[in-house]
Amino acid sequence: MEKPLSPNAWNASLYDDKHHYVADFGEQLIELLSPKPGESILDLGCGTGHLAHKIAAFGARVVGVDNSADMIKLACQNYPELTFIQAEGGDYRPDEPLDAIFSNAALHWMTDAERVAAGMWRALKPGGRLVAEFGSRGNIQTILGGIGNALQAYGLYLFPDALPWYFPSLGEYASLLEKHSFRVVYAADFDRPTPLEGEDGLRNWLNMFAGSLFHFIPAEQTDEIIADIETRLRPVLYRDGQWIADYRRLRIVALKEAV
Ligand code: BEZ
Repeated sequence: MEKPLSPNAWNASLYDDKHHYVADFGEQLIELLSPKPGESILDLGCGTGHLAHKIAAFGARVVGVDNSADMIKLACQNYPELTFIQAEGGDYRPDEPLDAIFSNAALHWMTDAERVAAGMWRALKPGGRLVAEFGSRGNIQTILGGIGNALQAYGLYLFPDALPWYFPSLGEYASLLEKHSFRVVYAADFDRPTPLEGEDGLRNWLNMFAGSLFHFIPAEQTDEIIADIETRLRPVLYRDGQWIADYRRLRIVALKEAV
């Protein structure tokens, strides 16, 4: 088996092929964004560009930003008519302040949340809106339990600090945004059990998204450990021939307040 990838070395084609549900769910978020013709909109953590493309179809001027070179490369190939830029979460500075920032399934990868909140505020016009959805506290708890137990069986330990994600509670994230002079006008925290495609759905998910947790383990042992994780999680996460990831989502709409 190939060694799992670290989070910044995305296999963008595998992402597009097996994890397109990320973009499928994002369409509901576009409804909440309600893009208008002529609006300037940033898709933060745009991945391979599918949602940026859908937003552009409303007549908005969209820029997609992602910190992964592979994702940006594929986004540019997929939609050469759109603008995609590689940058870290809080670092993108538009030439003109934006009407809106949209972000689907991406903010949980941006662990320096203070910096990202400050960057989003700076990028918006006064009154501009942030519409975002990402993993909330308790997201993938069952999967993480399976990983932790399997590693333990091999004498290894999953240090919470090693996790490459930020899954805040609703209160925590709303407070962060308020601290950065956003007005939170809508917030919801909800379970979103998410089907993973195919018999290898969990294995593919682990390879795509959790590679950094196995990086220090030799490839042969990683194979065994992933099989062990599947065995442990099958009774709880495999239903009717389908793996289901225990996703929990935070959905937020916030407005930039002038200070
Ligand atoms: C998520 O979308 O919740 C997620 C995806 C990959 C890793 C962790 C969480």
